[in-house]
Amino acid sequence: MLGLVTGDLLTIEPMTEAEIEATLAIDLASFHPSDLGADRDDPRAAREKSLREELARSWARIRIARGPAGDVLGYILFWHVADELHLLNVAVAPAARRRGIGRALVDELLVYARTHAAVKVLLEVRASNADAIRLYERLGFTQFNVRKAYYSDGEDGVEMMLELDAAQT
Ligand SMILES: CC(C)(COP(=O)(O)OP(=O)(O)OC[C@H]1O[C@@H](n2cnc3c(N)ncnc32)[C@H](O)[C@@H]1OP(=O)(O)O)[C@@H](O)C(=O)NCCC(=O)NCCS
Repeated sequence: MLGLVTGDLLTIEPMTEAEIEATLAIDLASFHPSDLGADRDDPRAAREKSLREELARSWARIRIARGPAGDVLGYILFWHVADELHLLNVAVAPAARRRGIGRALVDELLVYARTHAAVKVLLEVRASNADAIRLYERLGFTQFNVRKAYYSDGEDGVEMMLELDAAQT
């Protein structure tokens, strides 16, 4: 259990098939249409398929955050590849933002990183996503590269990294 800034209680746990619908709803409310497979006929179905693929990947980790009433308020998806973690998605339901849930989810990844002796965490974020960039920077990530026109709509991708101090693992 984690104490939120509001004093609410949050639990963070591995995602299962039972949370696909709730996670999908957060995805659809949170991500840019082109990141949800809008180029395909049915972005919702495309996103559901990709979530199910992530659940089946042995190197993917998905954690959900539940509020005090048991509802899913956010999730984080990352890959554990060798001694690196790749943060692919973190999203919080719009009505639950700015209450520390995003930070708690990334903190959970950092605990995972330290307990699994990962040496760095990498991620890519849209250059316009100031909220996410600020969240990552507050947790110690730094920007190290900009990939021009990385996203399908032409937006640049900012690459960020957090190197973990071996002494803390
Ligand atoms: C990015 C996101 C996950 C943050 O979740 P959140 O629960 O609102 O974040 P938190 O309440 O934990 O905030 C943590 C820090 O992030 C930064 N932050 C988050 N939202 C912010 C906003 N609207 N404006 C400015 N800073 C913001 C702040 O530094 C904040 O710390 P502070 O409140 O002490 O200043 C959420 O805005 C979201 O789901 N966005 C859509 C999906 C997305 O873009 N994900 C990231 C790319 S994968």
